[in-house]
Amino acid sequence: MKRGTTIYLYELAWILPSVAIPVGMLVALLVTAFGVHIHLPGVVGRVNPNRVQSTPPFDRPGLVQLGPGRYEVYMVARTWSFDPAEIRVPPGSEVTFVITSPDVVHGFFIPRTATNVMVLPGQIARITAHFEKPGVYPFLCHEYCGLLHHLMAGQVLVEAQSAGAHPSGT
Ligand code: CUA
Repeated sequence: MKRGTTIYLYELAWILPSVAIPVGMLVALLVTAFGVHIHLPGVVGRVNPNRVQSTPPFDRPGLVQLGPGRYEVYMVARTWSFDPAEIRVPPGSEVTFVITSPDVVHGFFIPRTATNVMVLPGQIARITAHFEKPGVYPFLCHEYCGLLHHLMAGQVLVEAQSAGAHPSGT
């Protein structure tokens, strides 16, 4: 009898974690998807990487206001800069980045926000970020793309009474 009870508890010690771990992962998935709004980016469009500079909207990279507090940024990520490299929006803005690459695989990452996408040549990445508080939000390329990868960066300036975009120095 005692032996049987011991085996049962031993099995239970394995059964409970095997249920708790998947349930915990599911909860984590639901929290990140619906609570923190982290999503996998979908393929929203394609563009001929050889014709990025003449294909709208990437022929005119920059910031466009869609409505009160809502903006869209058409951005080209190339070796080794972002164009535009500086964006200014007022606090409380919702900014959707529409990004592509004419050359190699880059990344677009804004720390302290849920903004992190791969930028593939031939594909258009689309991701929305919210900027509630004033401040400087640097963004950077997080995919190794060559010699000057570590210099590939820019910033979002969130400050009152401002909206604009500046191209990179290159
Ligand atoms: Cu672009 Cu690393």
